[in-house]
Amino acid sequence: MGTVVGTIMTAHVPAIGTAIAQGAQQEPYWKAFFEQYHRVHQWLDDVRPDVAIVLYNDHGLNFFLDKMPTFAVGAAPEYRYADEGWGLPGMFPVFPGDPALSWHLIESLVANDFDITTCQEMLVDHAFAIPMALMWPNVAAWPVRTVPICINTVQHPLPSAKRCFNLGRCVGRAVEAYADDLKVVVIGTGGLSHQLDGTRAGFINKPFDLMCMEKIVEEPEALTHLTNVELIEQAGSQGVELLMWMAARGTLGGQVAKVHGNYHIPISNTAAGLLVLENASRASAQSEDAAELSRLSVPR
Ligand code: DHB
Ligand code: FE
Repeated sequence: MGTVVGTIMTAHVPAIGTAIAQGAQQEPYWKAFFEQYHRVHQWLDDVRPDVAIVLYNDHGLNFFLDKMPTFAVGAAPEYRYADEGWGLPGMFPVFPGDPALSWHLIESLVANDFDITTCQEMLVDHAFAIPMALMWPNVAAWPVRTVPICINTVQHPLPSAKRCFNLGRCVGRAVEAYADDLKVVVIGTGGLSHQLDGTRAGFINKPFDLMCMEKIVEEPEALTHLTNVELIEQAGSQGVELLMWMAARGTLGGQVAKVHGNYHIPISNTAAGLLVLENASRASAQSEDAAELSRLSVPR
């Protein structure tokens, strides 16, 4: 049986990749930003996932405005990064795929009435590669296999927050129904508030972002009522990248526990949010283990 061990929601700003390429992580602008990921590294060391399902948005690399699927699922044996225009060097090792898991997810999604595009070849952009490099820095080969799931947040009409949340629920249930014992981490990339162009370029809405970071933990259904027009008004035109956070949150059924959360403004033009959530059952099992250990360590 597969298990979603937890979800990580993170920003994917291209400038992060430039900072990594230049080794600028300790510079004043970047230090606090990169340091918040240390807690995530500890958590990943602890849970040791086999696979990362990465919910992200393609920014005009694999799909352009002429052909734009609402949802696309990778089913390739491997995925290569390519630069869609930000000038990031090709510094990312090839990402191994997991075609068997991909096809299982695809079967489940289609059986549940999601009309998706299947991709047996797929280039991945900064929104996929940078979060991977934040989770596993300085690796020669990735320690997890990957399944990219791409959500259209570029060409209107976009899927709703509710639809993305339900897509995540379907992915989460499909993982739980998988025949193999597999530990899956789900990474949702993008957000939070940002607008890259137009008269509101540079727009950031901290109260709205903090409200979303709070609600998405315990009460994600409340956010499914947001329309995309409301999201654009409140969070900027690229603030719709919250859709990936909603899909990632949907993969965790039942009660969740917050492992780590942080909000950092700005990175480039973006409010960089970071949230790690896991199933509450795992968190309580761990605290029972800890209690058991401390009982055992009491001198008799
Ligand atoms: C920026 C943010 C993004 O989400 C993106 O895809 C590209 C650029 C930025 O803030 O620079
Ligand atoms: Fe983006």
